[in-house]
Amino acid sequence: MSSVVIVGAQWGDEGKGKIVDIYTEFAEMVVRYAGGPNAGHTLVIGDEKIIVRLLPSGILRENTRCVLGQGMVVDVDVLLGEIDELERRGHRGVADRLLLSDRAHLIMPYHIVVDTLRESTAAEGKAIGTTKKGIGPAYEDKVKRLGVHAGMLKDTERLEAKVKMALDGWRATIESLGGEVPSLADVMAPLLAARERIVSMLGNASVAVDEAIKNKTRVLFEGAQGTLLDVDHGTYPFVTSSNPVSGGAAIGSGIGPNRINTVIGITKAYATRVGAGPFPTELDDADGKHLREVGAEFGSVTGRPRRTGWLDVPALRYAARVNGVDGWALTKLDVLTGLPRIRVCVAYDTPDGRTEDFPIDMLDEPGRVTPVYEELEGWTEDLTGAQVLSDLPAAARAYVRFMEERAGVPLYLVSVGPRRRETIVLHNPFFGRADAP
Ligand code: GDP
Ligand code: IMO
Ligand code: MG
Repeated sequence: MSSVVIVGAQWGDEGKGKIVDIYTEFAEMVVRYAGGPNAGHTLVIGDEKIIVRLLPSGILRENTRCVLGQGMVVDVDVLLGEIDELERRGHRGVADRLLLSDRAHLIMPYHIVVDTLRESTAAEGKAIGTTKKGIGPAYEDKVKRLGVHAGMLKDTERLEAKVKMALDGWRATIESLGGEVPSLADVMAPLLAARERIVSMLGNASVAVDEAIKNKTRVLFEGAQGTLLDVDHGTYPFVTSSNPVSGGAAIGSGIGPNRINTVIGITKAYATRVGAGPFPTELDDADGKHLREVGAEFGSVTGRPRRTGWLDVPALRYAARVNGVDGWALTKLDVLTGLPRIRVCVAYDTPDGRTEDFPIDMLDEPGRVTPVYEELEGWTEDLTGAQVLSDLPAAARAYVRFMEERAGVPLYLVSVGPRRRETIVLHNPFFGRADAP
């Protein structure tokens, strides 16, 4: 199998960075296909912790080509800042391994201004809790056909005309929100300063990825955000503005859907959400506090405390359907250690009766649906040394088997700590089954 999509099955922060890093050992190309610097993917390698935002999580492997696809929105300052930071830490040749689609859209200062103003002036209960990185307004410009492609940096005259048109388009909005409209010169200056370095990374991502797959190169597509944040399939309107789901990999990199062989869904052993919006299994008690503190659940980009809750199996089955998940990577199992009993949502009570489907269209109104839980036994043993499933205590094994059975898709991997070695690989999508427990 030569092409694999790794997609978040929940509301983001499932541990995609770690899992992409693990599988990149076997991949020659890693492709980001959606989102932008709203992502924060954590890599823990030896004693070093790195959080990548625009760069694909394969960037530290020297033989891996990394691609930023046309489905992304890219802030050139963030991108260059990330490259410089890695070089400063002694990682060489980062920019040389990177290809930026000339059709990816640019995030401009006015997008960030609008995103921030909207969040700070929203009426009670209406703020999305965005990352304020300009994501929504940048995708709005793309759909309005006023967006600026990265490739436009090659022609500064055209670039300036496009930027002026887009900036003029936002003027009334910014003023009505009480903000200050940036001048054209202020918008252009950082673009011109970044121009030469960015232009040297530009290329046709669609051709590069398609050829890699045709040449049987192993390609990994790295999802950002998560299924329930997808603009079409998430808990709308509390979503991001792109398509993180696996179908987005084809659109956002410029290949046909039949070029993708395998989809891996990543889920934590519990659930988290950062930002506003429905979260039916959310906890506001000592168990929720345990998950936040032991799981270090604070946003990698914004530092905000993440909301925490029990695992939601109907939501996983929903994610399995909309993504076509072939196998699960279950992360952060170690965080459950010490809880005397663990609950899992297995169904919902709704005004139409009990259902095992995720009632996504009934979540708007609080209290309309009630999660139905089953309770499993907890464990106290440290899991981080486990290398195969049989190293896990019986209760932890029972928990992962319960999740696998109820969520209806086989387990490919179990993660028991943030480091590379703290991983039980059951199935390698590029090679097949690694371990028969
Ligand atoms: P991503 O956005 O999906 O890449 O996830 P984040 O990096 O935002 O958040 C996941 C956090 O969990 C990071 O701090 C990881 O280092 C950490 N992590 C990943 N897998 C595990 C695991 O199995 N156990 C523990 N304890 N931490 C993990
Ligand atoms: P990774 O890739 C978790 C959330 C924000 C907010 C909503 C919209 O690290 O999993 P946006 O700035 O995209 O307009 O915000 O989406 N959000 C994320 N939550 N992980 C992410 O990325 C996220 N990217 C966006 O908190 O609720
Ligand atoms: Mg994250």
